[in-house]
Amino acid sequence: MAVTRTFSIIKPDATRRNLTGAVTKLLEEAGLRVVASKRIRMTRDQAEGFYAVHKERPFYNDLCSFMTSGPVVVQVLEGEDAVKRNRDVMGATNPADAAEGTIRKLYAESIEANSVHGSDSDDNAAIEIAYFFQPGEIVG
Ligand code: CMP
Repeated sequence: MAVTRTFSIIKPDATRRNLTGAVTKLLEEAGLRVVASKRIRMTRDQAEGFYAVHKERPFYNDLCSFMTSGPVVVQVLEGEDAVKRNRDVMGATNPADAAEGTIRKLYAESIEANSVHGSDSDDNAAIEIAYFFQPGEIVG
């Protein structure tokens, strides 16, 4: 299987509870390698642009407020079939539906404060990686 990349965000609910290491450990144990990582405070513009696909959804404004409410850790993850591997270890969007042992089952507080984001396709991974990282910041 091909080694690919995906984009991950450790969200404000997780950084607030000092879970950056705990979340990253689960990602690494799932066979993903962190090839870029930075802790940032997202601006409103960044959050609105990142989640533009959800602009018409009722939760869009609250989601953008939440994502700018504290630090996040944006990461590029590399591994075999990275998008699926990451989505498997993250678990379902709503922690109430997430499988045992997944990041969201273990740590998410709600469907909004769900601890992590992960790209949903290779195409979106490339777009999302380029949104936050210069090529030179990614060291595989
Ligand atoms: P994420 O993977 O970052 O992509 C979009 C986010 O919107 C999602 O995780 C959730 O945090 C959030 N989200 C999705 N559905 C809902 C919902 N029904 N109510 C609130 N937030 C939601």
